[in-house]
Amino acid sequence: VPKPLSLKDDEGDEDFAASGKKKVTVFFGTQTGTAEGFAKALAEEIKARYEKAAVKVVDLDDYAADDEQYEEKLKKETLSFFMVATYGDGEPTDNAARFYKWFIEGNERAPWLQQLTYGVFGLGNRQYEHFNKVGKVLDEELSKQGAKCLVPIGLGDDDQCIEDDFAAWRELLWPELDQLLKDEDDTTTPSTPYKAAIPEYRVVIHDLSMTSEANISHMANGNASYDIHHPCRVNVAVQRELHKPESDRSCIHLEFDISGTGIIYETGDHVGVYAENCIEIVEEAAKLLGQPLDLLFSIHTDNVDGTSLGSSLPPPFPGPCTLHTALARYADLLNPPKKAVLVALAAHATEPSEAERLKFLSSPQGKDEYSQWIVASQRSLLEVMAEFPSAKPPLGVFFAAVAPRLQPRYYSISSSPRFASHMVHVTCALVYGPTPTGRIHKGVCSTWFKNAVPMEKSQDCSLAPIFIRQSNFKLPADPQIPIVMVGPGTGLAPFRGFLQERMALKEDGVQLGPALLFFGCRNRRMDFIYDDELRNFVEEGVLSELIVAFSREGPQKEYVQHKMMDKAANIWSLISRGGYLYVCGDAKGMARDVHRALHVLIEQQENVESSKAEAMVKQLQMDGRYLRDVW
Ligand code: 2AM
Repeated sequence: VPKPLSLKDDEGDEDFAASGKKKVTVFFGTQTGTAEGFAKALAEEIKARYEKAAVKVVDLDDYAADDEQYEEKLKKETLSFFMVATYGDGEPTDNAARFYKWFIEGNERAPWLQQLTYGVFGLGNRQYEHFNKVGKVLDEELSKQGAKCLVPIGLGDDDQCIEDDFAAWRELLWPELDQLLKDEDDTTTPSTPYKAAIPEYRVVIHDLSMTSEANISHMANGNASYDIHHPCRVNVAVQRELHKPESDRSCIHLEFDISGTGIIYETGDHVGVYAENCIEIVEEAAKLLGQPLDLLFSIHTDNVDGTSLGSSLPPPFPGPCTLHTALARYADLLNPPKKAVLVALAAHATEPSEAERLKFLSSPQGKDEYSQWIVASQRSLLEVMAEFPSAKPPLGVFFAAVAPRLQPRYYSISSSPRFASHMVHVTCALVYGPTPTGRIHKGVCSTWFKNAVPMEKSQDCSLAPIFIRQSNFKLPADPQIPIVMVGPGTGLAPFRGFLQERMALKEDGVQLGPALLFFGCRNRRMDFIYDDELRNFVEEGVLSELIVAFSREGPQKEYVQHKMMDKAANIWSLISRGGYLYVCGDAKGMARDVHRALHVLIEQQENVESSKAEAMVKQLQMDGRYLRDVW
């Protein structure tokens, strides 16, 4: 059992001096919980290795109420670690955004952090253009602002095995920390390698005849404002298929009814949605756990012996709830399990050969097999559990150490509040397809959308907890400024919102500047989504021109970037007149290729060298006139 944290948030720095302890702060910027998990693991290991260390894990969002406080508090830090993830277009996670902006904007300051020694571990994915940008920038800035770097930045790559990257970075840390945190008289180096304890909640089983109210109460509405921690339950008002009958794929249009909830949004914002696992998956998980679906239980972070697991493990759900609800709403069952999960499963496998194999897969020797058998095969947690039937972890272990928390999914809102003030529209492609093991993978949220029952069809309609995430993907303040939009597939979503907004402006008598839209799909008879609406926008003069690339109609693939080159002169004349360029959709393929096309387009139109064109692209980005909403 990990030692309880020795520090409370409000404990003053004087107490450290008095206690002879050295304060260590581990900050995290997390989106899906991986950076948070790493921060907690690092804190646990530092605590276990160094008596002298008083370690605190801090959510960057909770660190300070305002900017002055950041400064005041950071000046008191002497040893800090930053576990920060990079998302989308090289952006910080939501919980790190405010700190990141404040910190990098402070680079004009004279060095003021000389008292601080730090380490950064970044979490990113090499497939993206801005690999680990946030970690790299933070590392550079910390050093520019006077802080001393303890170990080189760790660049975690989620495309491979990020846990291995983290483990390798940690190994660099201990010799350095030994110097800082070991007592002089302590000559024993940590000879026995540290082994992380497997976290476990205390579980209380409740009588079924008791109320099951709690199943909904903690997702109830009634907050003044909604966010990722306080979502608002709303009805699905409308749900329909956007693909035409000839298509063998599916894309869902969904409308959430936000009337009377107090939720407000702006055109271009994102909506976060907490979906549920579908019933087959929930049933399979309960079977693998050997527990009935109607089991009513609650989980607690205090141990039976009264010690606390501390802040390291907030429960994913408060109050009693059925196993059915817990598995549907809170457990990520379909992603491939991390190595730490295999360790937890191994500890509960009653069949020795299964325990051995699980341990091997999580060990350094089993590295290749792990990447092949788990990662490349996209083996889900449930598939892995099915292969090791003797490993039936108790529920306290399952929810603490085996199944990660099910994360909300984000969508670019495809409506404008000027047009649909009581509705939030979502446009979502169904994730459905075979994995290398032959399993049919069904995306959690898109499958939920596909099966959702709208108010239109039944009073007993589907509900989901949602919240709004603001974005800076916004129309120019002056509607006369020209805009060029590039959005193939569901990348069209925010532009539908933009066009609805322009339609509303036009109806109010506002003069509109020119607007081009580049859309791409496979075939007009299959996946040309919202085609009637788009044609109507053109007829109404809200859209000056609609240019569509059909990738699977002719003998050759036609993509949006090819169409952009055909229209290069037109695009460049709009942008050089102060126009804005917007790109939305897939980051790894499309947005990267469109970025390259833009580069070439500028080279040709301006007749300049590649480096000059690159500088012009950068300038457009700095001016906020080249905006990307990519995933
Ligand atoms: P494809 O599936 O035929 O390759 C929406 O998904 C559209 O974007 C489809 O027509 C798809 O074509 C196309 N697309 C796929 N990869 C792309 C890329 N790298 N750049 C631009 N469009 C792409």
